[in-house]
Amino acid sequence: MTVARDLLRRCERLLDGAARFCLYTRAALTPLSEVRKGIIASWNDFIPDERDIGAGLAWWERDVADRYVKPHDRVLVIGCGSGRDLASLVERGCAVTGIDPAPRALARAAAYLEAQGGTAALECAFFEDWPREDVFDVVWFSWFVYGYVPDSSRRIAMLKKAGRNLSPGGVLVLSYPINPPGSRAAWLARAAQRLWTNDWVLEEGDVIGRLRNTGLFSYEHRFTREEIEKETRAAGFYVEWLGEPIVVLRAAAAADETHARTGDQSRVASVSVIP
Ligand SMILES: C[S@@+](CC[C@H](N)C(=O)[O-])C[C@H]1O[C@@H](n2cnc3c(N)ncnc32)[C@H](O)[C@@H]1O
Repeated sequence: MTVARDLLRRCERLLDGAARFCLYTRAALTPLSEVRKGIIASWNDFIPDERDIGAGLAWWERDVADRYVKPHDRVLVIGCGSGRDLASLVERGCAVTGIDPAPRALARAAAYLEAQGGTAALECAFFEDWPREDVFDVVWFSWFVYGYVPDSSRRIAMLKKAGRNLSPGGVLVLSYPINPPGSRAAWLARAAQRLWTNDWVLEEGDVIGRLRNTGLFSYEHRFTREEIEKETRAAGFYVEWLGEPIVVLRAAAAADETHARTGDQSRVASVSVIP
């Protein structure tokens, strides 16, 4: 009996690994346009309930908003979804624009705001494709949305774009999923991807999940702190404040002027880790 159970356990692990390899390799060969359909499907019905939308900011988001967001600030919320964080920033008296590619979630945000008597400009788009050059005092990447954008080089380009939407002295806030997993199956899928060309790259730290009955999959990238620092630096930002999993960034050029004036060589104003 023990031998049979042991054999079955080994089979189970082997089949799990094979299934994960197939899933990750299928993702690696899927064009970005299809990956994006999965991203929309993953989030269209996220936080549908009004009471949950009204719950407002998590404490670690509120901590950053209290420090860096002032009433009347122009705030761009990237990935506003059904409006939890967006509505809270509207309540703080900010002039808010929200964008999200998931139309059902965005419709819920609009209905919630209307019911509350609040206003915000809402636009349905992936931020990378958003054509507007409007300027904001705060660019707020919503809850982990930075990790829902595949491919490090695309994320860096997106941060550079966000930088062009920032007023001088403005801040960029982003939160990110942590604890990248290690998986041999995912490693093999990444190796397989090198044999084909695709318009995005499956990377270490990517987590792919199946979306039932759709043939689509969910996507998330989990970060190390070094990775966040590397990507944000490559986009021309420095870390002003970090309380993992949320970080506040400023454009490095503006910071260089300030540091040159004050002789202050420090970059990170504060680092803490939220347990
Ligand atoms: C975790 S949900 C957050 C929703 C809402 N802000 C909240 O906190 O309840 C992440 C949102 O990011 C959106 N999103 C994913 N990729 C995006 C992109 N490239 N540009 C803009 N929004 C994106 C998703 O559609 C989803 O609504």
